[in-house]
Amino acid sequence: MTIDNATQIEFWNGETGRNWVTHDALMEAMLQPLGEAVINTLAPQPGENILDIGCGCGHTSLGLADRVGADGLVTGIDISAPMLAVASQLAGEHNAELSSIQFVEADAQTHAFEPERYDGVFSRFGVMFFEDPVAAFANIRNALRTSGRLAFCCWQPRAVNPFMTVPAMAALELLPAPPEMPPRTPGPFAFEEADYVTEVLTSAGFEGVAVTPLGQPLTFGRGLSLTDIVERLVQIGPIAQMVREAPKDLQQPVRDKVIDAVAPFYAEDSGMTLDGQFWQVTARK
Ligand SMILES: C[S@@+](CC[C@H](N)C(=O)[O-])C[C@H]1O[C@@H](n2cnc3c(N)ncnc32)[C@H](O)[C@@H]1O
Repeated sequence: MTIDNATQIEFWNGETGRNWVTHDALMEAMLQPLGEAVINTLAPQPGENILDIGCGCGHTSLGLADRVGADGLVTGIDISAPMLAVASQLAGEHNAELSSIQFVEADAQTHAFEPERYDGVFSRFGVMFFEDPVAAFANIRNALRTSGRLAFCCWQPRAVNPFMTVPAMAALELLPAPPEMPPRTPGPFAFEEADYVTEVLTSAGFEGVAVTPLGQPLTFGRGLSLTDIVERLVQIGPIAQMVREAPKDLQQPVRDKVIDAVAPFYAEDSGMTLDGQFWQVTARK
């Protein structure tokens, strides 16, 4: 099964994109360490040009811009207008001298990038949504200089990610399971199989593809009460859609189940911490 990019554009400009904007600080606090680890792997150097695919609200683009400095350039590309609006605002506030960052609202699968413009391509969870991943990565590869490098992170399977399974299993005690998507369907878990990621990148022309496990605890809702954390989980977390579609009379009982399930992973000062298992993917042109 595939989901075309027009549907993704609608999705990321609709409720999902708006929810991400609302909870941007929460999401960023959780994902920042992971992005930092992948930025360290890419190791951008002062003066380099870096492309951030699916940059969302732009936090990683700002991190990359700090590394390349005023002589470098970071381009964040995304299809979500509301998320890019946050990115532009943050860039304006980040550093008045920061002229080395730009955001483009476009589909990275088809956008006519300037050929050989970039030294590196980065993404934190922005490359699993392409209708045709080989075409998308071939297009992105064209934007890289000879020997240019790629580093991104994506999710390992849902089943090995307690951040996904713990709240979901609790909700499923009361709600029907959502329809299962076939493997490789564009979405968060499209790249859950390491061999498939290697196949996609190799078919797109990349060399030296390495897909390595990266474990990173996910800390969600630092400073919030357990009830507030579960409220956020049903708005933007792994059970959002399931709960949104649940009958009215089950809304609170589901929340109560999830509260019980995540309570062992909650601490008042740090919020909810659950393990996350990701792939860190590197390659070169
Ligand atoms: C899970 S979010 C990650 C956002 C950001 N990288 C972060 O880590 O906070 C996925 C992002 O990919 C973007 N995206 C999805 N398909 C895209 C495409 N074809 N071209 C560019 N961006 C895309 C979405 O709009 C969304 O901002």
